[in-house]
Amino acid sequence: MKTPYDVMGGEPVVRALVHEFYKAMDTMPEVKKIRDMHKSDLKPMEERLSLYLMAWLGGPRTWLEQGNGMCMTEPHAPYKIDAEARDMWMMCMDAALEAVNLDKKLVEVLRPALADVADMVRNA
Ligand code: HEM
Repeated sequence: MKTPYDVMGGEPVVRALVHEFYKAMDTMPEVKKIRDMHKSDLKPMEERLSLYLMAWLGGPRTWLEQGNGMCMTEPHAPYKIDAEARDMWMMCMDAALEAVNLDKKLVEVLRPALADVADMVRNA
């Protein structure tokens, strides 16, 4: 059976999505609050979120093999993530989904699933 990772187009498409995600975070003034939570260099996060999403989408499990877990609650505990921050994260994701021009049917499945993860990360 094809995984969402396969349907999307594999690693190049996941990496393109994540690149657009952090580009949006870095340039959209309306998400400054979450940009400021991140380190000035977003490149390491581009790598980490790409590996996370590759595993999450059913692709290569490099993220897990490197000793990381799939639950994102603990890594986000140091940050105050309220509903506004969650919505800003989704705003960046929406811009990225649009930029990589994914199949609309796939977006209909992926977007709510990502919104669920974003809401699980919310801690305030
Ligand atoms: C809901 C709003 C969210 C905010 C405000 C947020 C913010 C952050 C921040 C500030 C960091 C640390 C950045 C740094 O070290 O420069 C981080 C790390 C990370 N975030 Fe988020 N995040 C959110 C949601 C998510 C979601 C939904 C996912 C997964 C789909 C995710 C995946 C990750 C990963 C994989 C890391 C790296 C963790 C590690 O290095 O162990 N985040 N996030």
